[in-house]
Amino acid sequence: MSRLAGRIAIVTGAGRGLGRAHALALGAGGARVVVNDLGSGPGGEGTDAGPAQSVCEEIRAAGGAAIASHHDVADWAAARELIELAIDSFGGLDVLVNNAGILRDRAFANMSEGEWDAVIHVHLKGHAAPSHHAFRYWRTESKAGRGRAASIVHTTSSSGLCGNFGQANYGAAKMGIVGLCKVLAIEGAGYGIRSNALSPSARTRMTGAMAGADELLGTPAPGEHDPFAPEHVANLVAWLAEADCPATGQVFHSAGRRIRILDVPRIHHDAHSQVDWTPAALDAALRDHLVESIGAHALIT
Ligand SMILES: NC(=O)c1ccc[n+]([C@@H]2O[C@H](COP(=O)([O-])OP(=O)(O)OC[C@H]3O[C@@H](n4cnc5c(N)ncnc54)[C@H](O)[C@@H]3O)[C@@H](O)[C@H]2O)c1
Repeated sequence: MSRLAGRIAIVTGAGRGLGRAHALALGAGGARVVVNDLGSGPGGEGTDAGPAQSVCEEIRAAGGAAIASHHDVADWAAARELIELAIDSFGGLDVLVNNAGILRDRAFANMSEGEWDAVIHVHLKGHAAPSHHAFRYWRTESKAGRGRAASIVHTTSSSGLCGNFGQANYGAAKMGIVGLCKVLAIEGAGYGIRSNALSPSARTRMTGAMAGADELLGTPAPGEHDPFAPEHVANLVAWLAEADCPATGQVFHSAGRRIRILDVPRIHHDAHSQVDWTPAALDAALRDHLVESIGAHALIT
């Protein structure tokens, strides 16, 4: 019995990289999949219907069911059409994997307003808009006694969780996504909606464009097992998509065969005073307890 039989899923940014692997894994598990991808360049430039279409063909060739969507997930109205496409084509929606993303890396002092806005827009609004319309659908279904054991998987990053040089826009968006994930886990609980965040590390077009990524991920010889293939990460998404998966409000990091559940936030030091704090008292109480800033490589390796 396929573990995702009967489930209906949308994966955004599924024409390439991680999203493609997620869509293929969901399709292989028996889910019907809406493969969404704008087909833009790494920085969000241009559009191309080809990537989403070709992933649909791969899913169908393997015996699955898939349709393509070329909606821009960061456009509120287009995101509603994306959710409606799943409902109209397959009769409902159970799983939303928010994955689409772009990069506009720049040292913060040199970053333009346009670079800041573009990355916040695609990642943060591009997660919020489909989630909002899916939420409204799932709430209506739940109130009508047709709850769908819904699952949202959001995509965060070690660049936000730990920090990474040149990615202030991206890191800020990715931590915003963690906040979105946590709030939706709380708001969704009463409607049977789960919400989890995934921080992946995988070799894709995006890591190809990031300074230093090749050194961290290594380069396997042709035909050799690739520990950073996106397919490793997709298995976690397939589990999170299952109707009886218990996870919600969680933050995972997935790289190759290693999966970590991150405790966000964890209380590292708890200082309490009987009288109001002063800067001098804070200096004495906190100076020796500060958390080391570790950088994104700490999670990847
Ligand atoms: N690869 C990694 O190691 C890594 C690490 C941390 C986080 N991530 C995140 O994983 C996700 C997938 O990244 P990837 O590495 O597969 O990158 P990728 O560039 O291979 O794929 C991203 C896809 O998103 C699509 N897209 C961009 N803007 C869109 C929009 N507005 N609407 C619909 N589709 C859009 C692109 O066309 C592209 O096909 C991103 O959110 C990224 O930030 C990746």
